Amino acid sequence: MPRTPGAAVTARAPAKVNLLLEVGPRRDDGYHDLVTVFQALALAEDVTAERAAPGHGTTVRVRPRPGVDASAVPLDGTNLAVRAARLLAERTGVPDDVHLTIDKAVPVAGGMAGGSADAAAALVACDALWQTRLGLTALTELGAQLGSDVPFALHGRTAVGTGRGEQLAPVMTTARFSWVFVLAGDGLSTPAVYAELDRLRADRPGRLEEPRLDAVERALRSGDPLALGAALDNDLQEAALSLAPQLVATLEAGRAAGAAGAVVSGSGPTVALLATSPAHARELAAELGRDRPEGAVLVADAPAPGARVLEAVRAGGE
Ligand code: C5P
Repeated sequence: MPRTPGAAVTARAPAKVNLLLEVGPRRDDGYHDLVTVFQALALAEDVTAERAAPGHGTTVRVRPRPGVDASAVPLDGTNLAVRAARLLAERTGVPDDVHLTIDKAVPVAGGMAGGSADAAAALVACDALWQTRLGLTALTELGAQLGSDVPFALHGRTAVGTGRGEQLAPVMTTARFSWVFVLAGDGLSTPAVYAELDRLRADRPGRLEEPRLDAVERALRSGDPLALGAALDNDLQEAALSLAPQLVATLEAGRAAGAAGAVVSGSGPTVALLATSPAHARELAAELGRDRPEGAVLVADAPAPGARVLEAVRAGGE
């Protein structure tokens, strides 16, 4: 079937790991003030936006990469990529007729912001398909309405996030790091993990402390994985471990296998292990993968770029 000009656009957006996640007290709007350091991973979601007939509206399908369980991803109007396309259409006044395909490589409900990457990639793909040309600043504003981690998935690299995580300042670092991610069978719900933290902290409100950020920034500047490994910290970890106590053993196994650092990724349950080199990451992954199911251990280098167009199919294109 011949294709019309601008028939389809594929965009890619990265998963993330939090090198630091400091959680302050719960705010009146239900969110928590954060000081976080995000790092984007060379593990990404691809979203293809295809032009659909007038009146079609926005639809989505998900193609899981091998080893990814995407059964919990909603395919209705609550899907973050669908919400992203509709929000962009509403903001720019174009019809929201588009069919989205998510090629899913990031674990679902794993604390790696796969859903946020879907939203970021959908914004970039639809912005290119519809030629609405909003650009990064306006897309970032829309992204913040979709979720706290969406702005970072648009920007990528390494950044300090404040507010609820949506206010970003890039961290200049030329260092590259190699990560190993150990997935857990069942996902954790982000709101449930924050609620558990509030419960655990009933009489000791969370504090945002400058020295922890300094330590991570110094380690990033030095490029020394041992320094970064020692500086990794996540206030959500105690809540994630309270809800999923088996993660304690995963953290211990990672340290025993020689990881430079081991921390729960975001709200979990994925555990992030920092390696000292790409070869060390492969060794760690082999060690951790030995008694785990196929696909339960992933390796990813970082940092990676933010959401970007990979491919635009033009007239007659394949
Ligand atoms: O922004 P997002 O939709 O990703 O947040 C999901 C949930 O995580 C929020 O509804 C809230 O319960 C919790 N959250 C929070 N503080 C943040 C970010 C998220 O309490 N800074």
